[in-house]
Amino acid sequence: MAIERTFSIIKPDAVAKNLIGAIYTRFETAGLKVVAAKMVQLDQAKAEGFYAEHSERPFFKALVDFMMSGPVMVQVLEGENAVLRHREIMGATNPADALAGTLRADYADSIDENAVHGSDAAASAAREIAYFFSDEEVCPRTR
Ligand code: TYD
Ligand code: MG
Repeated sequence: MAIERTFSIIKPDAVAKNLIGAIYTRFETAGLKVVAAKMVQLDQAKAEGFYAEHSERPFFKALVDFMMSGPVMVQVLEGENAVLRHREIMGATNPADALAGTLRADYADSIDENAVHGSDAAASAAREIAYFFSDEEVCPRTR
């Protein structure tokens, strides 16, 4: 199976609850290696651009306001089948539907404050990584 990369956000609710370390442990336990990471405070343009595909949805303004409500951790994760593997450990968008033991089941309070983001496909992963990281900021893991 090919090694691939995906993009992850630890959202403001989870950062505020001091869950960065616990969530990184879940990534690493699942075999996903952190190959780039930083903490950022999103402004309106950055948050709206990131979620542009949802701009016509009724929850868009609340989503953008939430994503700007505090700092987020953004990271690139690398591993076998990383996009799907990451979505599996995140769980369903609505924590009420998320399987036991997933990040959203354990750490999210509601569908609109759901702790984590993960790319949904290889193409969106490439786009989202480039939206936050320059090539030099992403380190290939060689061992
Ligand atoms: P979406 O891409 O459908 O979910 P996911 O994060 O699992 O890829 O939606 C993006 C975010 O929008 C989602 O994480 C939380 C928010 N959202 C709502 O607030 N209400 C909703 O009904 C939906 C579908 C999403
Ligand atoms: Mg999505």
